[in-house]
Amino acid sequence: MKQNVVLIGFMGTGKTSLGRSLAQRLGRAFLDLDQKIEEKSGKKIPEIFAEYGEEYFRELEGRVVEEAAGRSGVVISTGGGTVKNPKNMELLRKRSVVISLTAKPEVILARTRKKGKRPVLDQMDQGDRLRAVEQLMEERKPLYELADYTVDTSDRSPFQIVEEIARYLKIRGALHA
Ligand code: S3P
Repeated sequence: MKQNVVLIGFMGTGKTSLGRSLAQRLGRAFLDLDQKIEEKSGKKIPEIFAEYGEEYFRELEGRVVEEAAGRSGVVISTGGGTVKNPKNMELLRKRSVVISLTAKPEVILARTRKKGKRPVLDQMDQGDRLRAVEQLMEERKPLYELADYTVDTSDRSPFQIVEEIARYLKIRGALHA
């Protein structure tokens, strides 16, 4: 059975765009968990948070993780907080190589500056958004570090990053297994 490739990492590390490019590079199907949640609920993520709260969002997230974890041979981009529930990671790990994407807080800030798109960050942002990014990153760092391989996306092109991940997967023998 072909293994999946799962991308984890903080908001703004490029999970969705790099996931899509990686899937293309590997000739695999691509699955974005946030997009699946929006499709399932018929609502945008900020609306789900505003109307039903984070707990409800995490429930939906858990359901799409279960579905995704049952697939094989696909590239899966998670949401920044998917790693918070150990059950999600346990499920995903069964058939997947887990790649963590990181970036410097300043880079994350630049990529997530716009309010209204990332409710978790907006909630923590009491006027100093960089501080909010740093705090949340610190809190989640140990969870992202559980990955099999980590790539910093701060100063490199999407092409370089995708090639590095593809190289790792090849060395690991994850592309044919
Ligand atoms: C979240 C990250 C978001 C999305 C939701 C919660 C988080 O995904 O799942 O807003 O808790 O970090 P991205 O990492 O794709 O922005």
